[in-house]
Amino acid sequence: MGAEKGLDLREESRRKSAGIVIPIDGPAGSGKSTAAKGVAERLGFDYLESGALYRAVGYQVLNKNREGDFESRAVDSARGLRFECRKEGNAWKNVLDGEDVTDALRDEVISDMASRVSAIPGVRAALLDFQRNYGRKRGAVIDGRDIGTVVFPEARLKFFLDADIEVRIQRRFAELEARGVPFHPDHLREDLKRRDERDRHRASAPLRKAEDAEEIQTSEIGVDQVLEVMLEKIRLVYGEVIEDA
Ligand code: DC
Repeated sequence: MGAEKGLDLREESRRKSAGIVIPIDGPAGSGKSTAAKGVAERLGFDYLESGALYRAVGYQVLNKNREGDFESRAVDSARGLRFECRKEGNAWKNVLDGEDVTDALRDEVISDMASRVSAIPGVRAALLDFQRNYGRKRGAVIDGRDIGTVVFPEARLKFFLDADIEVRIQRRFAELEARGVPFHPDHLREDLKRRDERDRHRASAPLRKAEDAEEIQTSEIGVDQVLEVMLEKIRLVYGEVIEDA
C-alpha cells in the first residue's frame, strides 16, 4: 500500500513538475553525474547526462561518420543525433540510434574526442535545442559544463559541484578499476588535466560556475551527504511541486 501511494505521489509530482529543470555543472570527477542521478530518482524526474551527448558525437566521428574534415563531420553528427538516457532496471543507459553505447562512451579515447568536439561552436549550437527540449514533458535533471550558464540560465535553482584535482583523479582511477578497464595512471592524470584546461578555457561556453549557482565542494563529503544538501535546497525552492522528495 505504502509503496503504491509513493508511486502515485511521484506520478503526481512528475506531472506538476513539467518545465522544471535542475542544472548541475562541474568538472570531470566532481561527482555531478552520481548526484544528478540520485536527485532524478528521488524526484521521479528525467535525467540527461549532457556529457554523453558530446561523447556520442565523438563516437560517431570516430566510428561512423568519416567523410569530410573533422569539424564538418562533428557538426553533421551533432545535427542528426538520435540519443536517449534511459533507465533500465537500476542503471541508466545511453542509447544512440537504438544501440546501447553506455560502456563504449566511457572509453578514454572517446573522452578526448568529446572534449575536442565540444569546443566546436556548430556542435554546441546543434545540441542546444536537443537539451532544451528535454525538460518540456516533465521535470529533468541535466548535468554538464554549461547547463546553468548557457542552456538553462533562467533556472530558479542550479548547482555547481567541484573537488580538488587530486581527489577527482583518484575517483577516475577507482571508477575504471571497478569496471575492470585497464589504464595507465600517468596518462590518465595528464589526460584529465588537459581536458580540464580545454573545458575551462575554450572560447565557446567554457566550464564555469553560474553566478547564482549553489556551489558544493565534494572533496571531503560522500555521495549521500551531497544528495541531502541538494534535496534540502530543492525543497526550499520547489517545495510546492515536489512534496515527496
Ligand atoms: O562530463 P563528461 O566527461 O562526460 O563530458 C565529456 C566532454 O564533453 C567534456 O570534455 C566536456 C564536454 N561537455 C561540454 O562541453 N558541455 C557539457 N554540457 C557537457 C560536457
